[in-house]
Parts: sequence; C-alpha cells; structure tokens
Amino acid sequence: IDIKSLRGATNGVITIDPGFKNTGSCESAITFLDGEKGILRYRGYPIEQLAEKADFLEVAYALIFGDLPTKEQLEKFHADIKSKSVVDDDVKKILDAFPKTAHPMGILSSLTSALTAFNPSSVNVDSEEDMYRAIVKILGKFPVLVAWTMRKKQGLPLNYGSKSLGYVENIMKMMFEQPNEDYEMNTIVKDALDKLLILHADHEQNCSTSTVRIVGSSHAGLFASLSAGISALWGPLHGGANQAVLEMLEAIKEDGGDTKKYMAKAKDKSDPFRLMGFGHRVYKNFDPRAKIIKKAADEVLNNLGVDDPILEIAKGLEKEALNDPYFVDRKLYPNVDFYSGIIYRAMGIPVEMFTVMFALGRLPGWIAQWKEMRLNKEPIGRPRQIYTGETERSFTPIENR
Ligand code: ACO
Repeated sequence: IDIKSLRGATNGVITIDPGFKNTGSCESAITFLDGEKGILRYRGYPIEQLAEKADFLEVAYALIFGDLPTKEQLEKFHADIKSKSVVDDDVKKILDAFPKTAHPMGILSSLTSALTAFNPSSVNVDSEEDMYRAIVKILGKFPVLVAWTMRKKQGLPLNYGSKSLGYVENIMKMMFEQPNEDYEMNTIVKDALDKLLILHADHEQNCSTSTVRIVGSSHAGLFASLSAGISALWGPLHGGANQAVLEMLEAIKEDGGDTKKYMAKAKDKSDPFRLMGFGHRVYKNFDPRAKIIKKAADEVLNNLGVDDPILEIAKGLEKEALNDPYFVDRKLYPNVDFYSGIIYRAMGIPVEMFTVMFALGRLPGWIAQWKEMRLNKEPIGRPRQIYTGETERSFTPIENR
C-alpha cells in the first residue's frame, strides 16, 4: 500500500480500536518485531547480536541514522555529544526545588521539558542540521539529568562526566562516583549496563514512543516530545513495570516466599493484582529481550558475588507461570522488565530509579522515531472518536438546575 496516498483520506469512515490493538499509525524503517516468533531487530540487526557485540552508542547511532557507524562516524558522533554535555547551572536550581518525596520520573520529565527553555533553538528544526544539533544536545545532557536526579534523591553532590571516558562509562561515573574517592570502573557492571540499555533502546510503536511521535507531530520540539514520552513510560503498565516487579518480588519474599499465593491472586478476576513483568501487547510467544536479560542476571549476580533470594523467587514464579493454564492460554510470558530490576539492584541502583534507567535506554529510539516522523513530514496525529454523550440540549441557568 502507498501509505502516503492514504494521508488525505477523511472519508467519513471511522474505525474504533481501543488501545490501538490493530491500528498502524505510521510506516517505519527502524525496528522490526514479530510477536509470534519472538523476533526483534533494530535496523535489521538482530537484538541478540547487538546485545552480545555492540555498545550502546553504536546502537543509538544505528537507530537514529540507519546503519551501524564506521569508527570515524562513531568518534565524531561521540565528540559532538560530549561537546554538548554541559547542563546550565540554573537547571540545578529547578532540581533543588523538588521535594524529597518527588519520584525520579517526575523530576526527569520536568527537567527534560525545562531544557527547552535553556536551548530555545532546539525547537524549530527545519533542516537535518538543526535536527542533528538538537539530537546531540539531548544525548549529551540527558545522562547528566539522569545522574543528577539519582544524586539529588540520595542527597549526594552532583557530578559531571569526564572527556576521556566512553558514553556508558560516563553515565556510571556521574551516577556512582563518591566524594573524595577515585572512581574505579567495574567492567562487569559496565558491560551489563550497556546490554540493558541496548535491549531497551527501541520497541516500535509502544505507548511512550507513540506519545513522542504524536506530540512531535504538532512540531512541539524534540525535548518537549521526549518529556511527554517519559511521562508515558512512567506508568506501571509500561516502563514503570520494572519498579513494580521488584516491589512485588520483595513483597513475596517478605510474605514468606509463597509464590503460589501470588499466582492465585493474579488469576483471581475480583482482585486487581497482576503479575508484574508478565504479558506483552505484542509478544505472544516469548520476549526475546527477557531471554537475554535472564541470562545476564545470572551472570552479573555470579560475577559480582551477589546472592539475591529475589532471583530465586523470580525463577520460581516464571516456572509456575509457564506451567499454568491461565498464563499459557493467555500467552503471558515474562517480559523485558521481569529480570532487569534484579540486575539494576545488584548494580546499586535504587528501585525508584529503575524506570529512569529504562528512559535512558529508550532515548535513542524515541529520537529515531521523532526524526523519522519529521523527515517523513507526517501530518499532525489526531484520532477520531465515536461520540456517546447527550444529543443536543438547551442551557439551563444555574438557579434552575
Ligand atoms: N497478570 C495476570 N493476568 C494478566 C496479566 C498479568 N500480568 N497480563 C494480562 N493478564 C490477563 C488479563 O487480565 C486478560 O485476561 P482476560 O482475557 O481473562 O480478561 C488477558 O490477560 C489479556 O490482558 P490485556 O490487559 O487485555 O492485554 P494487553 O495487551 O492490553 O496488556 C500488558 C498488556 C499491559 C503488558 C499486560 O499484560 C500487563 O498489565 N502486564 C503487567 C504489567 C507489565 O509487566 N507491563 C510491562 C509491559 S512491557 C513494557 O512496557 C516494557
């Protein structure tokens, strides 16, 4: 089908599809996924190969520009990002104003939106050069906002990265470097973080990505569109699931480790409880990212010498679900976030920060999708509805109501 030929069509026929379960919103050449076969590829590269062999910045480049970079392209990209990684000092005042109780996702979405005020030229992007400038700016500044958000929550001084370190190494330095201490990079943690960020980097038209595209379709600007995407990701049915999974596993542990009790709760239709980290709108066989993450969780915990009883509870729950007709019939399998929190915890990242880490990984995907939408000159997103309210009625003055 020539999708562009459909663009002018407002022919009076409206399809209604709550949750857009069967509605395609765009053409896209970024991410291919086959939910029945459990296939995920970014720009044609299988996720398994990228997770095994690539680093996060290479993957970000491929998502945004279409191909894996040459050495020279990657070096230039990284240098451009580094040159834009300073965040205005006044952003610290905004950060300071947040109460201690603020959720890191709320802080991150506000700060990302606030960046527009400090970089007004990033809003009107009429050429690919303008786009490139806005893209390297946000790739430089976003990890700083992420690290500062965590440090603020922990009451620690705010760090900057170093010109000599790689992209992911700098993220770690900014997050973990302690005052008056030489920072020593833990390569096991670095490799695991690279892998987690790659696995989260894009997932075609999910809730947050569709949000980024639809907000961007009004030409609102990249940072504002990303801020909206962060808010969409926050919810427990989407990115917020990684925090919810760990809290659920903790609750099961505290409750004596009785996984059967929680399985029964999840199946009880009068109980709103769901097994967090299970089920996916598109994967109806298995989530290829979950396979990779489960293996990584084992490796990271072993390598770091961490013995986490939560991992055993997670494995037990997975085993029971895979043999339970309720979960089998509904094709509910562990998703990407079932095991990611266990790794983040072993790295020393607070539970409240898990969804922020997801946002950090998803950033290049959101950027790539926004760029594609603008370059394809997509029309403003504006779904229709079936009206079910009152038909016409007359105004009644307030004293007569
Ligand atoms: N636990 C128990 N039952 C579930 C679960 C679950 N985790 N997920 C779905 N179901 C059941 C539903 O109750 C429904 O049952 P019914 O047909 O008897 O009414 C059936 O499975 C289908 O569920 P829907 O909600 O219609 O499926 P949908 O595709 O709309 O939702 C979603 C997908 C949101 C991921 C859902 O499976 C869920 O809430 N999972 C838990 C939260 C989670 O892990 N989210 C992360 C998703 S991955 C990501 O965003 C990165």
